[in-house]
Amino acid sequence: MRIVMIGSGYVGLVSGACFADFGHQVCCVDKDEAKIAALREGRIPIFEPGLDELVAKNVASGRLQFTLDLAEALPDADAVFIAVGTPSRRGDGHADLSYVHAAAREMAGHLSPGTVVVTKSTVPVGTGDEVERIIREARPDLEFSVASNPEFLREGAAIDDFKRPDRVVIGVDDDHAATVLHEVYRPLLGNETRLLVMKRRAAELTKYAANAFLATKISFINEIADLCEKVQADVADVATGIGLDSRIGARFLQPGPGYGGSCFPKDTLALLKTGQDFEAPLRIVEAVVASNDMRKRSMGRKVVHALGGGGHGKTVALLGLTFKADTDDMRDSPALAIVRALQDAGAKVRAYDPEGMEQAKTLLENVTYCADAYEAMEGADAAVIVTEWDAFRALDFERSRELLKDPLLVDLRNLYDRADIERYGFRYVAVGR
Ligand SMILES: NC(=O)c1ccc[n+]([C@@H]2O[C@H](COP(=O)([O-])OP(=O)(O)OC[C@H]3O[C@@H](n4cnc5c(N)ncnc54)[C@H](O)[C@@H]3O)[C@@H](O)[C@H]2O)c1
Repeated sequence: MRIVMIGSGYVGLVSGACFADFGHQVCCVDKDEAKIAALREGRIPIFEPGLDELVAKNVASGRLQFTLDLAEALPDADAVFIAVGTPSRRGDGHADLSYVHAAAREMAGHLSPGTVVVTKSTVPVGTGDEVERIIREARPDLEFSVASNPEFLREGAAIDDFKRPDRVVIGVDDDHAATVLHEVYRPLLGNETRLLVMKRRAAELTKYAANAFLATKISFINEIADLCEKVQADVADVATGIGLDSRIGARFLQPGPGYGGSCFPKDTLALLKTGQDFEAPLRIVEAVVASNDMRKRSMGRKVVHALGGGGHGKTVALLGLTFKADTDDMRDSPALAIVRALQDAGAKVRAYDPEGMEQAKTLLENVTYCADAYEAMEGADAAVIVTEWDAFRALDFERSRELLKDPLLVDLRNLYDRADIERYGFRYVAVGR
């Protein structure tokens, strides 16, 4: 199959490299000249474990190419995937579809008969209809299909998720699109991946429903964690106690500083807007969004409280800035609200993150960035684990105690056991225990 990816970010690049690895001929297009130049020179513009080797291998085999030029990529493509961003529209929280619509307009003139245009970007119900309308308007006589194939990969585990997904969702309104997408994903079907074929609108909604449900699970356990703190119960026991119920499941029941990243915050908001537009309000998701917004900043207050109630004259070492481990993505990371809450309380912030500091520098002011966790802790009044990076799972507590002014560890990811830490003379503040 000849596949074109429009947009070579986290999703476009990972999907393109994996499709090439399946044996397809793939061309990844992007508007960002620096990104395409880097990829052509063998440099990967994002941090994603294993992606550099996968890209290099498939470029070397001749199956993966990069270009700025749609006209060069599109002729004779069997499937064109739109994988551009769909951020929150400023002001109202609707998904900003301007990049998706622009991609549809730009490709229209170059499509060949029979090509299937597939939205892989997360897009609200009805976006496929609009993509179809845009292309039809420019090419009234062209035979083409528009399908939906939402992506469920997680940053940090993206290649594995793409190659061994729980399911592949395909939304099609015609048989030709179903046949082409079946062929695109055929290499996965051998290892028992379920390919779910449904109507385009159901596929579009499935992605939002999945993300909203996962965000709900996270917010639910975060609120239970708050209650645990009040009633002296350990949230880990409660999470295990409910998670072993197969109707509930154990995953996404780890309390923490709130969900962030490039998907859950914007997708929950966009789903709310769709619900409002169609007069089917989603009250549960509304509560989740409000609960998560409050939680991020409240984590800053939790640290200030642990410091004795005030931040003036205090320095805090933040360990981790990204919204989760194994990514450099800082979009909507809880660390942003935590840093601002600490600074508002008068505290100084020193920070270390294995991959996120370059992006963090563009989003946060007056933070001292350090070379590792120990440099961050030098002279600080507390260390705060914000992200569950492996590098923070086995800290040297003898050394940390000597570097910190006050041996206080606020662990917003519950990476440690209280008894283990207290043995080193630390005061330990965790979440929900
Ligand atoms: N990041 C994730 O983990 C993830 C997971 C599942 C789904 N998604 C969804 O996938 C979509 C893409 O997300 P992302 O994180 O990969 O975004 P991204 O911002 O990393 O990448 C988008 C890329 O598209 C390029 N682009 C924009 N308009 C273009 C055009 N007209 N032609 C060519 N290139 C263009 C941009 O330059 C950018 O490189 C979003 O809808 C997102 O919600 C993301």
